[in-house]
Amino acid sequence: MNKIEIYKHLSWKIKYEAGDMPYPPVLFWDNNISKDKVLNSWKNTINYIKSSEKNHNMWLYVHIPFCYTHCFFCTCVTKVEHDTNKYEEYLDLIEKESKLFSDIFKWTKFNTVYVWWWTPTILSASQIDRFYKILKKYFDLSNVKQIMTEWSPYTTTDDKMKVLVEHWVNKMTFWVQSLDSKTLKTNNRFQQFDDVKNAIFLARKHWIKYINLDIMAWIPWQDIDWFKETIDLVKTLDPTTVHINSFWPTKSTNFIKSWWIYNYENIKLRNEMEKYWKFFEDQESKITDTEQQNLQLYNSHNYNSSILWLWYWAISHAFWSLHYTKNSFQEYKTFLTSNNEINFFWYELNLECEIITYLINNLRWWVYYENFWNLFWSDLKKNKIYEKLEYLLSKWILNNFDWWKWIRFAINSDLYCSIYSKFLYDEKLIEKFWKYILNNKGEFLNLDLKLKQFFTD
Ligand SMILES: C[S@@+](CC[C@H](N)C(=O)[O-])C[C@H]1O[C@@H](n2cnc3c(N)ncnc32)[C@H](O)[C@@H]1O
Ligand code: SF4
Repeated sequence: MNKIEIYKHLSWKIKYEAGDMPYPPVLFWDNNISKDKVLNSWKNTINYIKSSEKNHNMWLYVHIPFCYTHCFFCTCVTKVEHDTNKYEEYLDLIEKESKLFSDIFKWTKFNTVYVWWWTPTILSASQIDRFYKILKKYFDLSNVKQIMTEWSPYTTTDDKMKVLVEHWVNKMTFWVQSLDSKTLKTNNRFQQFDDVKNAIFLARKHWIKYINLDIMAWIPWQDIDWFKETIDLVKTLDPTTVHINSFWPTKSTNFIKSWWIYNYENIKLRNEMEKYWKFFEDQESKITDTEQQNLQLYNSHNYNSSILWLWYWAISHAFWSLHYTKNSFQEYKTFLTSNNEINFFWYELNLECEIITYLINNLRWWVYYENFWNLFWSDLKKNKIYEKLEYLLSKWILNNFDWWKWIRFAINSDLYCSIYSKFLYDEKLIEKFWKYILNNKGEFLNLDLKLKQFFTD
């Protein structure tokens, strides 16, 4: 098997397992770690940030992990929870965790706060108030540039919106996904058009200036006409921006768990729906206001910023030190309440990992030599990874007309950017994965269709 074939297998595998964000992907991480190692890794990162005197633009990331129903299409690890006592227990744990970290981050001014919620409005106004008070009590948010909140329109009320604004939330994304009643019903989701309309009305009433709506292309069994109905309704709401995400049939969706197959017909339909991106992209390109920018993404791309993620499941990044994810609720509680070894997935990060992350994140757009120098205090052209970039250059996969200033992928394809970025991976990881392919060939049958499920080109 040639390298490109191995990279194709790897591209699909990490998308399917939904761990495609970090480098190295979660697939390659270890498990079992001591609490001390987690805390000491953060101390190392903070010391590095202090001594380097560079912008690092750290983010604080928190999510609220409860849902009213489990939507059929959803890829997230969610918990359907109606017991309000559990919401209080959640807040107690967030407080405990914040306290645990507060000393380490005493002198860290967070640049952004990102609150990512499954169904955030599930909490009452006073619980939402307590949530933000906890963050402000244990972390220095005095210099924060953006408090971004993603928000479910369902059960948004005036008092909840008021609390958000009182806590300086200045950017909001509303989860919509679909507005046609047939798709909603078949996907076990009951948020209606009037809920979205009402939520936007309340946000505007409280002077939230920037309103983004997230919708999805090809939610299971959605017809093109039903999708257009959603688009037409969304336009009447006049949001600042609309983001369309394509459906991914990952391992954790109920769609896949119920043995449904995502076939070429579905993919074709999804591609048809994705064409509506263009309209909203054009609309977005006219906006110049920095408030609308996704500062978290900007910080990750430009600074490899560290991310402290409260609660379990998601991935924390301690720059040049550690990636870890708290695997389960049980392990999370152990982490907070004892000094035992914990079953978290983790990976110790060296400088090379950070450099590869930076290149993968930026090659789609631009890698400026000067920015690289500012971040890593070294010349990219003298780094050993440059040989790999030169190989890509020789194949015309990269272009650099201003060769002394920047390089970037010359291809405009998600799939091929994903595949070629694997050229930058550590050879040992590729070797490990090669062994995995040999032992699990059955998993990769019909790979072209599988890749198309995640990449549109
Ligand atoms: C964490 S989910 C939160 C969704 C939110 N709670 C809601 O009810 O709409 C965030 C984003 O993930 C995306 N998402 C969820 N399941 C997906 C899937 N199977 N494929 C692609 N994107 C998915 C959706 O577009 C959603 O906007
Ligand atoms: S889409 Fe949102 S509400 Fe539905 S299960 Fe996923 S996180 Fe929960």
